[in-house]
Amino acid sequence: MHEPTPSPAAPRDLAAWFACLWAAYLPVSPWAPVIHRLLEARGERVQNDHVAFRTFAAPGVDLDALAQPFVARGYRAADTYRFPEKRLFARHYEPPSPDLPLVFVSELRLEAFSPAFRAVVDRLVAQVPATDALPLLGRPWHLSVADYETLAAESEYAGWLAAFGYVPNHFTVRVNALRTFDDLATLNAFLRAHGVPLSTAGGEIKGSPAALLEQSSTPGGEVEVAFDDGRRRLPGCYYELARRYPRPDGTLFTGFVEGSADRLFQSTDRR
Ligand code: NI
Repeated sequence: MHEPTPSPAAPRDLAAWFACLWAAYLPVSPWAPVIHRLLEARGERVQNDHVAFRTFAAPGVDLDALAQPFVARGYRAADTYRFPEKRLFARHYEPPSPDLPLVFVSELRLEAFSPAFRAVVDRLVAQVPATDALPLLGRPWHLSVADYETLAAESEYAGWLAAFGYVPNHFTVRVNALRTFDDLATLNAFLRAHGVPLSTAGGEIKGSPAALLEQSSTPGGEVEVAFDDGRRRLPGCYYELARRYPRPDGTLFTGFVEGSADRLFQSTDRR
């Protein structure tokens, strides 16, 4: 990371979208290929439960703008989530067919931040080109170390978003689709035994069968980020693991749990 990326051409169909998103995510998600290799070596075919994105709640780049390419291709807006302490709002989108992942988009509400913080965000957002492929834009702005520090001091989420831009924040292994693991705790133990670290904020497993969703994640793998005036090693993207349980009507729960998501956001905090 480097020069702001030129606006990419929007892929036509959803399979092509997710292939592009995965390709953009891999170089900044050191644990994802490790976990893929470990699972494939056991004969598993990894399915993706959901893809998550982050953005600023600013005109042209807000949650609705980020979700628009998915909505235009058949995704349907579903539940909303609030994280007041982190000043985040989120919504998940349900896919037009069950073999496709859910999409989870969060946005950072800017009202309560300092004038200096908001001035930096304004400068970044002003550099975003008009595009119908915002989720694939990469980091479309120049960024100095000082501006990064101004954001990260008030919001780890904002610092991460400024440093990495529009790349999936995480992909997620659909634990229900694995054939050789009965539950998330067994999968976690397997990963730990192979040297994969798991985030412990809120416990290694966030959620419960009663909440209809259990989730774990790696920390954001360390990535070298180029700023206009230097380089830093920062937590990049993370990889998540999700096991879903059936609702009373027998269908699988497809939503998210605020208390769990609140902790998972911390997977990209600087340590
Ligand atoms: Ni997630």
